[in-house]
Amino acid sequence: MPETHRLLVLSDVHYAGPGEQARRGYELRVVKNRLHRGLIWAWRHGVWLKDPLAHNHLLDQFCAAAGEADLVVANGDYSCDSAFVGVSDAAAGDSARYVLTRLRDRFPNRLAAVLGDHELGKMSLAGRVGGPRLASWERATGELALEPFWQRALGNRVLVGVTSTLLALPVYEAETLPAERERWRALRAAHLDQIRSALAALEPGRRWLLFCHDPTALPFLWEEPLVRERLTSLEATVIGHLHTGLIFWLSRRLAGMPEIRFLGQAIHRMSRALRQARCWRQFKVRLCPSLTGCELLKDGGFLEARLPADGGPARWLKHPLPWTPGAPTRGAVSPT
Ligand SMILES: [Fe+2]
Ligand SMILES: [Fe+2]
Repeated sequence: MPETHRLLVLSDVHYAGPGEQARRGYELRVVKNRLHRGLIWAWRHGVWLKDPLAHNHLLDQFCAAAGEADLVVANGDYSCDSAFVGVSDAAAGDSARYVLTRLRDRFPNRLAAVLGDHELGKMSLAGRVGGPRLASWERATGELALEPFWQRALGNRVLVGVTSTLLALPVYEAETLPAERERWRALRAAHLDQIRSALAALEPGRRWLLFCHDPTALPFLWEEPLVRERLTSLEATVIGHLHTGLIFWLSRRLAGMPEIRFLGQAIHRMSRALRQARCWRQFKVRLCPSLTGCELLKDGGFLEARLPADGGPARWLKHPLPWTPGAPTRGAVSPT
């Protein structure tokens, strides 16, 4: 039996610590227009997530169900970002710190954590408040010790983690503060340099896996000649952010759609990402769902990859997690 490395991936924990729990209704409170509020309410209750603050128990469920692993990748979005400005908000910062501490304690020296869009801040769906903030960057990369770029070797494979908000800055820039834009651009340029250097050092043919929270970043990576050159040995790109296979499926169907500019920045950002989504296929994109999944399908869980040390192809499995606190984890494991 050849040696196999066991890799686990979880994403979009969206934990709500006490400070965020006290902000029940935060998403609708910032929406002034009654029609928009009604539409968002219907979307949240029927499809996305009725109560985003009610799923903290899934972090413990994951830790209990995970078993042992050679490496665990947390693919971003640790808090609920209920102030929409990322972890510089004290309550969101506390939520993210709790998750990262819990995971680092559970998997000592075996956790690689990716920065998600909600660590840095993101404008609310229709409320037009918030966005990426440099103070959140400082806390995420300082106190929370999140590495914007990382590499780990696992057998003969190299795993690479990148920061999607930096790569997709042209899409997110309208949500940043004008006084902070120059610094964001410099951070993005430095990030791209790190990626170029790492890929230049990767031996041709060496298998690698990419971890990128938000697929909005992929068309910007596609513009990099060295990235395109190394795509033949890329085994998979694991994204999070979309939370459910339903949105992943829809996104691929809507790839190439026109940009929608008249419904606010959040809709413009999403439609622009979908317009450029045709290149996802080249990146061999695989979704790690949120621990919760969506309200409609309750399809949350985490991924496992079994990576043969002899270089054979990876085998991917999805482990579902139950919604009900305290319920046993369902035993069914489905190939994904
Ligand atoms: Fe998320
Ligand atoms: Fe996200």
